[in-house]
Amino acid sequence: MTAGVCGGLFDKVINFLSKDGGSAGVSSKSGGAFCPFIFAKELMLFIDDIFGDNIYNILSSKAVYRFCRKEGMYMRFTIEHLVKRFEKKEVLRDIDFTFESGKIYGLLGRNGAGKTTLFNCLNKDMKADGGDFYLEEGGQKREPVPDDIGYVLSTPTVPEFLTGREFLKFFIDIHKDKIEESKNLDAYFDYMSIAPEDRDKLLKDYSHGMKNKMQMLVNIIAKPNLLFLDEPLTSLDVVVAEEMKQILRSLKEDRIIIVSTHIMDLALDLCDEIVLLNHGVLDKVDKTDMDSHEFKEKILAVLRDERPID
Ligand SMILES: Nc1ncnc2c1ncn2[C@@H]1O[C@H](COP(=O)(O)OP(=O)(O)O)[C@@H](O)[C@H]1O
Ligand SMILES: [Mg+2]
Repeated sequence: MTAGVCGGLFDKVINFLSKDGGSAGVSSKSGGAFCPFIFAKELMLFIDDIFGDNIYNILSSKAVYRFCRKEGMYMRFTIEHLVKRFEKKEVLRDIDFTFESGKIYGLLGRNGAGKTTLFNCLNKDMKADGGDFYLEEGGQKREPVPDDIGYVLSTPTVPEFLTGREFLKFFIDIHKDKIEESKNLDAYFDYMSIAPEDRDKLLKDYSHGMKNKMQMLVNIIAKPNLLFLDEPLTSLDVVVAEEMKQILRSLKEDRIIIVSTHIMDLALDLCDEIVLLNHGVLDKVDKTDMDSHEFKEKILAVLRDERPID
């Protein structure tokens, strides 16, 4: 897997990891084979008829993957009765929800509601105490594999001993079998609006917003089906936050993006759907036929426990 990585850089990373056990700044689930297929329902049924169960072996090609992506295949991510306790405290009581591709979901909840805990369970960084979750593509259910998921943590964690360019090069080298169209490094930096003079600086000298952008960049390069962002814009300046929103909007087609936040205006501005996490359950808030003031009041009332959600 690492054969193509330039020797010096690879050694630098391995040295650091072996000394420190440090995080490379990406989700712990970023290894493994790249295998998300998205099949059109009709195509699936037709192929299933001919090949039966062997289909996943036979069609393990990027071409099929690309075809299906291009055709804009529909995908769902369902969580069923997920439960998570910390000793006696039941943080997630009964999470039951289906997310659909093509949308940005705002996971809105007060501090301590369990948003990070939910992401950690879905990314399998933390073991849930009950329940299940699965992806559905072309009518086929399957467990998400690590490469399905991009998880941008609330506190940017990047390898501070590398420059931005080294980190990006390292990440692309070790994931090159999964990256459909790789661009040159500067094109990625341009995309994230990271200035040319900052690209060769050590990450330890990056601002919080720039570290955040790097973390986001490495999580979107391999185009995960599910993108979880934990409080991504909360501490960014207005310009960077606006750039990040544009990027997220450009990414939503063909995938499911879930953004957690405790800031209602952010959720309303960025997201297509608002999902409230309150008392360990998830509820969708219906946005239709409501002016923004009434809608906000309704959300606040739910979060204050004044009114049940309808
Ligand atoms: N590893 C843990 N051990 C014990 N309690 C935890 C742990 N992680 C989170 N909690 C508790 O779970 C609740 C939800 O936390 P969290 O998921 O971080 O909320 P949010 O992200 O919505 O602010 C909090 O009461 C927090 O103290
Ligand atoms: Mg949190």
